[in-house]
Amino acid sequence: MASDVSTQLRPREAVLRMAPYSPPTGGRSGKLRLDFNENTVGCSPRVLEYLKERLNQNIFSVYPEYAETREALSRFFAVEEPQLVLTNGTDEAIQVLVNTYVDDNDDVLVLHPSYAMYRFYAEVAGAAVRELSYRKQDLAFPLEELLDAIHPATRAILIANPNNPTGTGIGLAEIRRILDRAPHAAVLIDEAYYEFAGVTALPFLAEYPNLFVSRTFSKAFGMAAMRFGCLLTQAANAAYLRKAQSPYSVNLLAAIAARAAIEDTAYVSNYVSEVLAAREMIYAGLTRLGIPFYPSQANFVLFHAGSRAIEIRDKLRAMDVLVRDRSYEIEGCVRVTAGTRAQTQRFLDSLEQIW
Ligand SMILES: Cc1ncc(COP(=O)(O)O)c(C=O)c1O
Repeated sequence: MASDVSTQLRPREAVLRMAPYSPPTGGRSGKLRLDFNENTVGCSPRVLEYLKERLNQNIFSVYPEYAETREALSRFFAVEEPQLVLTNGTDEAIQVLVNTYVDDNDDVLVLHPSYAMYRFYAEVAGAAVRELSYRKQDLAFPLEELLDAIHPATRAILIANPNNPTGTGIGLAEIRRILDRAPHAAVLIDEAYYEFAGVTALPFLAEYPNLFVSRTFSKAFGMAAMRFGCLLTQAANAAYLRKAQSPYSVNLLAAIAARAAIEDTAYVSNYVSEVLAAREMIYAGLTRLGIPFYPSQANFVLFHAGSRAIEIRDKLRAMDVLVRDRSYEIEGCVRVTAGTRAQTQRFLDSLEQIW
């Protein structure tokens, strides 16, 4: 039966207020995917072997058990096991953190432009979200502005380091200043691009009960479809996070795959070296074409296409090269993922043809 508008259920006000968010993930197969900052060659072959060895009819009939994965990951991150929360990607880490600490109308600080899911989950929770802009000139982190914006009622501060889509990041001294200023707020340092940047707040965990660090297997590890991540914090916090989390949100395949992925660190470090070389190629190629860009600490580069941002994205797409338009949030900007050098060459050749 067709739905009748007069009987349609009304969602919560918080949901009504939200702007729709639907990333353009359709129709990407077979194209050069430089649009979502994924690993562009795939996960370690060892992950597949490990999964294949364990696949049998029975494994899907049993609710997942996480003990071995938890043990392996706590060793990998060099934390105590009770400090670890396994999550269905970083997205669930953000959601669980917000659900644990943020009430209706609570003050939550995010930056702009940044990863959209901070605002998303804070808005679903009904939080009062305040946004601070990255510096216009160089897209640097607005540290002083953020410190000034923190007040005693601030419940959460959600930061990507390095940030997407700007590629800019902060160092440990800056993170320390934020943690010191906001002892009453849950401070998330989302390290989705850690492997490319090498800066981590993990050593601060013992000292700061307000620190939460998230890591993902979606980027350098090449497992975006698996939806696997971790949230690391002091054990007392982690206990509350797990209390507010669905007990089986992490798929068994993801939990098994993660164990294999962390065994093959050579695969990830080789991929990271390739990406860093490709990123230099992007800088050189853009410079040659006279295209301004922002130096990045992650596996992507934001460049200025001016009034042609959408046109450039569409023309590259017609050549089966996918990049992401970001001009809706930073005027004239397009973001390209750094993959292998060969893929980067193809991107640069395509760009040169249409520029
Ligand atoms: C800063 C940041 N955090 C998290 C994610 C996504 O993480 P996950 O796939 O683990 O949910 C992204 C993906 O673009 C990101 O840019």
